[in-house]
Amino acid sequence: MLRDLIDFADMSKSEWDAMFSLALEIERNPAEYAEIAKGKILASMFYEPSTRTKFSFQSAMLRLGGNIIGFDGTSATSVSKGESVKDTARIVSSYADIIVVRSPVKGTAEEIANQSDVPVINAGDGTHLHPTQTMVDLFTIGYLTHSHEITGKKIGICGDLLYGRTVHSLLSALAWYGNNEYYFISSPSLEVPQEYADKLVPRNKINITRSLDCIDELDILYMTRIQKERFPSEADYLREKGAYVLNRETLSRAKDDLIILHPLPRNDELAEDIDDDPRAKYFLQAKLGVPLRMALIATLLGKI
Ligand code: CP
Repeated sequence: MLRDLIDFADMSKSEWDAMFSLALEIERNPAEYAEIAKGKILASMFYEPSTRTKFSFQSAMLRLGGNIIGFDGTSATSVSKGESVKDTARIVSSYADIIVVRSPVKGTAEEIANQSDVPVINAGDGTHLHPTQTMVDLFTIGYLTHSHEITGKKIGICGDLLYGRTVHSLLSALAWYGNNEYYFISSPSLEVPQEYADKLVPRNKINITRSLDCIDELDILYMTRIQKERFPSEADYLREKGAYVLNRETLSRAKDDLIILHPLPRNDELAEDIDDDPRAKYFLQAKLGVPLRMALIATLLGKI
C-alpha cells in the first residue's frame, strides 16, 4: 500500500514506537541494513534551504544502499521556466521510488503526494509542520532516557513558538503523552498558537512565561531559533532577535541531567560556550536523524 508521511499523525503512536525501535536497531547494527534499498532511488525536492534534513535523508538512503537524485532550489530546474508543482511532481515521481519535499509553502508536500505514484515525505512545509524533525526529537529523548514514553517531565520550549514548525509538530506529537508540565518561554508576540497548546491541556500542566528563569525546574529544554525568514519585516525580526540566550551562566542554574535540544540551525540563542557541556544534546540529535530516517525510508519502501 502506498503511504506518505505528510503529518506525523499519518502513522499511529504504536507505528512510531516500532520505528524508534527499528532506528535503534539500525544505529547499533548498520551493516545489516546496508543493502536494503539497493536499486531504489530517493528524489529530494528542496524548494527551501536545508542542511540537516536534506543531507541526513541523502545519507540515510546511501547508507541503505540506494541512490539519490534531486534539486536544491529550483533555478536549475524547469520550475524556473514556469513548470507547476503538480507537473514537477508527476515527472519526479516517475523517476524515483520515494520523494522527500521541503518547501516554504504550507501544503506543498501534500500537493506533490496527490500527484505521486511513490511515497512522499514532508521535510518541512512553511510554518506548518516538520514531522521527521519531530520524530528525530522524540527518538533523541527516548534514546537518552531509554524509554518510548515521555511522562512526569518538566519540559521548556523556548524561542519562536509562533512560526516554528518544529515546535508545532513537536507539541502535536507530545499530546500522545500525559502527566508532563510545560513551560512555554517566548515574547508575547511569538507565543505558541492556542490550537497547539490546547492539544496538551487535557492531560498536562501548562505555564506561559517570558524568561528562562524556570530553567532550574526543567528536565528537557527545547530551544529554537528566531526565524528571520518568517517575519513580515526586518524591523519585526530585530525586535525579537536575541531575546533568549542559553549560555554558561544561565545553564549554571539547571539540573545536572537536563537534556538540551535544538532542531538547529542556531543563531545566537545557544552560546557556543555550552557546546561541550554534557547536557547539550543537539549535535547528537542531528546525528540521530540518519538512523531514524533510514528506518522511515526502509518502512515506506516496504522493505521492513
Ligand atoms: N532542523 C532542520 O530542519 O534543519 P535544516 O533546515 O538544516 O534541514
